[in-house]
Amino acid sequence: MQNKKKLISVGAVVALLVIVIFLLVNKNVFMTGNKDAEVAGNTVSTEEQTTVEETDVKETETASVEETQEQSDVDKSIYMDPAKDVEERVEALLAQMTLEEKAAQMVQPEQQAITQIEITKYGVGSVLSGGGSAPRRGNGADDWQAHINSIKEAALKTRLGIPVLYGVDAVHGHTNVYGATAYPHNIGLGAANDEELMEKMGAAVAEEVRATGIQWTFAPTLANPQNELWGRTYEGFGEDAELVAKLGAAFVRGAQGEIGSEEHLSETKVLGTAKHYIGEGYTTAGINQGNVEMDAEEVDALLHDTLLVPYKAALDAGARTVMVSFNSVNGLKCHENDYLVNQVLKGELGFTGLVVGDYNGVQQVSGATYKEQIANAVNAGVDLLMEPYAWKEVYTNIIKNVEDGSISQERVDDAVRRILRVKFEAGLFEEQIGSEKENELLAEFGSDEHREIAREAVRKSMVLLKNDKVDGKTAMKVLADSSNILVAGSKANDIGAQCGGWTISWQGNVGNITKGTTIFDGIKNVAGDKNVIYSMNGTVSGDEDAIIVVVGEDPYAETSGDRSSSNLTITNSDKSMLQNMKEDLQKARENGTAVIMLLLSGRPITIADYVEEFDAIIAGWLPGTEGDGVGDVLLGDYDFSGTLTYTWPWYASDIDTKFEDESAANILFKNGTGLTKDGSSINEEGTVTIGAKPEKSEEEIAAIAEGSINLESTDYVLEAENYTADSYLVFRGNENNISYVDGWNGQWANTKWDVWVPKSGNYTLHFYIAANKDCKTVEIYYASPKIVDDGNANKTVVPMTKTASLMDYEDFTLDVYLDAGNYEFKFMTNAANAADFRLDRIEFEYTSGE
Ligand code: BGC
Repeated sequence: MQNKKKLISVGAVVALLVIVIFLLVNKNVFMTGNKDAEVAGNTVSTEEQTTVEETDVKETETASVEETQEQSDVDKSIYMDPAKDVEERVEALLAQMTLEEKAAQMVQPEQQAITQIEITKYGVGSVLSGGGSAPRRGNGADDWQAHINSIKEAALKTRLGIPVLYGVDAVHGHTNVYGATAYPHNIGLGAANDEELMEKMGAAVAEEVRATGIQWTFAPTLANPQNELWGRTYEGFGEDAELVAKLGAAFVRGAQGEIGSEEHLSETKVLGTAKHYIGEGYTTAGINQGNVEMDAEEVDALLHDTLLVPYKAALDAGARTVMVSFNSVNGLKCHENDYLVNQVLKGELGFTGLVVGDYNGVQQVSGATYKEQIANAVNAGVDLLMEPYAWKEVYTNIIKNVEDGSISQERVDDAVRRILRVKFEAGLFEEQIGSEKENELLAEFGSDEHREIAREAVRKSMVLLKNDKVDGKTAMKVLADSSNILVAGSKANDIGAQCGGWTISWQGNVGNITKGTTIFDGIKNVAGDKNVIYSMNGTVSGDEDAIIVVVGEDPYAETSGDRSSSNLTITNSDKSMLQNMKEDLQKARENGTAVIMLLLSGRPITIADYVEEFDAIIAGWLPGTEGDGVGDVLLGDYDFSGTLTYTWPWYASDIDTKFEDESAANILFKNGTGLTKDGSSINEEGTVTIGAKPEKSEEEIAAIAEGSINLESTDYVLEAENYTADSYLVFRGNENNISYVDGWNGQWANTKWDVWVPKSGNYTLHFYIAANKDCKTVEIYYASPKIVDDGNANKTVVPMTKTASLMDYEDFTLDVYLDAGNYEFKFMTNAANAADFRLDRIEFEYTSGE
């Protein structure tokens, strides 16, 4: 007992000394004076911090003792000599590595899940910031630079001094970081279809990434999405593999520099990633991380004719890292697909760079234990394992797998060789942490020069889909000649909405999330002396010469963006606004006002009900921070030059057949469609084909799902006790026909109704509730036809307040827009600050229709 105490106090003194020395030698951390934030991981609370620091300082102590002991054995003469050949350096280093050091090179923790001290202790090979993962000290570019550089310094303190490779998703700019330039998402860049622009953008993105000390971006995405129900459609340049190949390769050249040129992988460049290998965009029903179902021969033909085309182009352009996809091909996850990774990518294509797994992707492969899953992924050819939080287990299990023969020593050597090779090629061993160049780039972060490139990209990305004549002049000409212009819709003045997913946070968000120019400001900036008015709700005065209504999707990323064909539409609040504006817009059109829709979406969505209501329709995609680019084309001297890179059906229910016949009546806009202001078509072959709106089939309309409550036959009332599924403290058919929660004991209430809504329109939902206190934790979730996961549903707090007693029901209302169709409604509460309450019924009051 006494001895232990003594040890602890000696330990504490040494720990203190180590902290002081650490502060003195670590310039960046010292200068910002925020050591605590740096030492502890992002997720660690203040209380926990002390413990983490104490333990970790002890760990460093041991590590530094080992370091001095073992460093004398290390021969750096070859691997640290830039004059030597890369392969020679790789072998010289590999030969000196222990199994533990090799395993550590193969893990990639999330920055929030590792401390600098652990980096030194384990000799971790790579670290990432996942979507929205900012350093704990703050989200400015300087915070990132200081944080990343302290991680790099920690890596150099290891016995062998192998530099760490840091990766981030700069998928439309370095947009996790506040103040970064956000470019249009790839769907817009595909429409712009300009290789030179892609190179310029790649170079500019690299500069902002490099300004924060990061050497690797997980971009470009090389998918050629075939089904826009897929939530990642906007990450793809277009549905044609050739186009993706051309633009993906151009981005790689821009980001990495031209192979053989002096700037190639120099200090203003970053490594690109060809992702996600392979088959994404072809999964059944467009399901993210889903399965590509086809027989082996078909897969092979698809691979060789189509899917590999962009990969070959990116590898030829110099891409040295490939990220494996979450999806399966014929039931087998790509992460464990020996044929696709080992044989095709590394064998047939001769790829000698590194293959990185996707975020927790190994946890989806087969295997009874994590250890087995790791062996399966590594044996299939995954070299670097992006297992952000479980990295220690990965490290231990790689070692165990080698010890028991589940992974061969040769395979580990091959993986590490690839990782080291890429590090040598990218100049990491010569890298100067916090170099003068890096600081120059930091001073230029989000510069006007970069914003100018993004603005050009916005101009070129917009696609004019419809441009009818208004009193003899095209709508766009009327707009150009207007003196009074109304810009309507919340998305018209919202940086977050125009940036979409992967901006500041993983999912993105509406609101003033980063620096930039909104679309409304962009239009105003180029409008000269024209009168430009903004109305969030779409209030029309009647004096307008032109009205631009901005509607679309709200931000999302990955699976939360997956949709069913009935909900691939603009948001309900935008539908509601259009409904409210309908009569005013009709009147305006009768008076010669040009009525223009600017659609902000990450893909073709169903706009069938609105096509006839607008003189012009523009696909603005997700343009990023530079709204001026929209203004340049709408009111400036630039004309439209963008063309569609996706086939756009009238209805999402026709997606499955959209490639069968491109002139079929179910296609609203063909791939290639794009008009200019005078109404002519940009591509000869890709003329716009607006036929008549096809009627929805009888079956579709009559398709009231079995078991659904048809509102028409219940007088638009949902009785609480008619629910179709429930959980926890909800009881069917008790006193007063109430479903209720009495006496919370850490329980949840969760009640579902399947409902058939007979007609589209605005509804006021009346909730008749008795509650014992005000409560903001009761929410109504709904989605059509089903809530696939909660992230997919519309969700609104039911505004319930205390009523006179638990027997006194009051009417609490919510306004929603609902399309005709099947819905699942879910009434959900959790125990946090919950009130006891009783729900009697929900009435659907129809307030305005089509
Ligand atoms: C995505 C990748 C991304 C990674 C790291 C994953 O969820 O699929 O595209 O690079 O996260 O953020």
